Amino acid sequence: MRRFVLVFLVALASVSGVFAAGTSPDSATVQRMRWFEDAKLGIFIHWGIYSVYGIDESWSFYNGYLPYDEYMKQLSGFTAARYDPEAWATLFKDAGARYAVLTSKHHDGVALWPTRCSHLNVVEKTPAGRDLIGPFCRAMRKEGLKVGLYFSLLDWSHPDYPHFTRKLKRYDPRADSTRWQRFLKFVRCQLKELCTNYKPDLLWFDGDWNYPASMWRAKELREWINRMLPNVVVNSRLAGYGDYATPEQGVPVVRPKARWWELCMTINDSWGYQPHDTNYKTPGEIIRIFVDCLSLGGNLLLDVGPKPDGTIPERQVEILRKLGRWIHKHEEAVYGVRAGIPKDYFYGPSALSKDRRTLYLYLTCKPDGPVLVKGLLNRVNRIWVVGRGTKLSWRVLMKPYWSRRPGLLSIDVPEDVLDPEVTVLAILLDGPIKLYKPKE
Ligand code: GLC
Repeated sequence: MRRFVLVFLVALASVSGVFAAGTSPDSATVQRMRWFEDAKLGIFIHWGIYSVYGIDESWSFYNGYLPYDEYMKQLSGFTAARYDPEAWATLFKDAGARYAVLTSKHHDGVALWPTRCSHLNVVEKTPAGRDLIGPFCRAMRKEGLKVGLYFSLLDWSHPDYPHFTRKLKRYDPRADSTRWQRFLKFVRCQLKELCTNYKPDLLWFDGDWNYPASMWRAKELREWINRMLPNVVVNSRLAGYGDYATPEQGVPVVRPKARWWELCMTINDSWGYQPHDTNYKTPGEIIRIFVDCLSLGGNLLLDVGPKPDGTIPERQVEILRKLGRWIHKHEEAVYGVRAGIPKDYFYGPSALSKDRRTLYLYLTCKPDGPVLVKGLLNRVNRIWVVGRGTKLSWRVLMKPYWSRRPGLLSIDVPEDVLDPEVTVLAILLDGPIKLYKPKE
């Protein structure tokens, strides 16, 4: 959250055309962001050598839970022997995702592609011995998914990055700017490879927190990226020079100010593969978190952690499939929807169709009686159960002919139309939604 607020503040001062909360984005930006805004679900993949011991990605050595050399011994166990990106793509599509973001390089500096900017990559240093990013991009695109690449700006392994571990700092970049510039050159070297070789649709930066935008030369970096990839979508962790906000591990309580945002969330409590972490969220919990994101106008980026051989743990596969069952049944109330109505009008998550004529209500609990909506000024044309088609009847209470106030919409939802998880009602209105606003 702290980072989120910071990003928001920095974004206020950001370049035009790029995410700037509070101001309305120009039409080219709106156009560029369209697929992202409509996509709603992405899959995040934290895949790296940390899956070999099943420990925290990069942080485990940074925080001193094991020595750096011991951490790096994992290189020899990273095989990618059963890596099947086509199977990933099918799974993600079945889960209902429209994009996927893979960690091309985490804070430990181990690149998943044959970078020529450093020797620390899976091709030269692990039994995997080959490019893992290219096949990922091809497989995702074949299934119609957009390709995102996560890239850590900071690199704790690089001799020119000032921080090595929590206790050890190599140097002060303000005192040795030549060395810092050398590091920035290295960042550009790797980014150029990623942008030109793989042409990602989305760049997911991370690890900008040690230094301000001016030191990262973030504005310049963004403009340089735009020249290579004019349509790329960039998250906000490029010291504020991104397009969308990235709250982490918690649905925002109130609707974020940023026009575009994405909640990134682990499926259990870990980003990477950790077999001892069995604290999985249930499909029912994930669906409820997801509709909360929809209701507040955001996306969900749900993270999985493949094993060193490239397979995704069975339990994670199962959860994704169950989420997919729900999403595919309710597609019309998922893709392309916009934020719903305030909770004062309906005590639950809701969303609106793009033309604002259909209001979707997500029933996260079994209704114990009629579902009520307050303050709706429109006439209702039809109500049905999404993914099932059943028409429902309704009544408008408290609407004497002489009153200009809207009545109370009351909908009965029979037991036999309920989804085992979240039932969705669609309310077709006589025009774009109008809500009653009482005079103070
Ligand atoms: C944090 C962590 C990192 C993780 C990322 C995902 O920035 O540093 O380990 O990859 O969040 O959002």
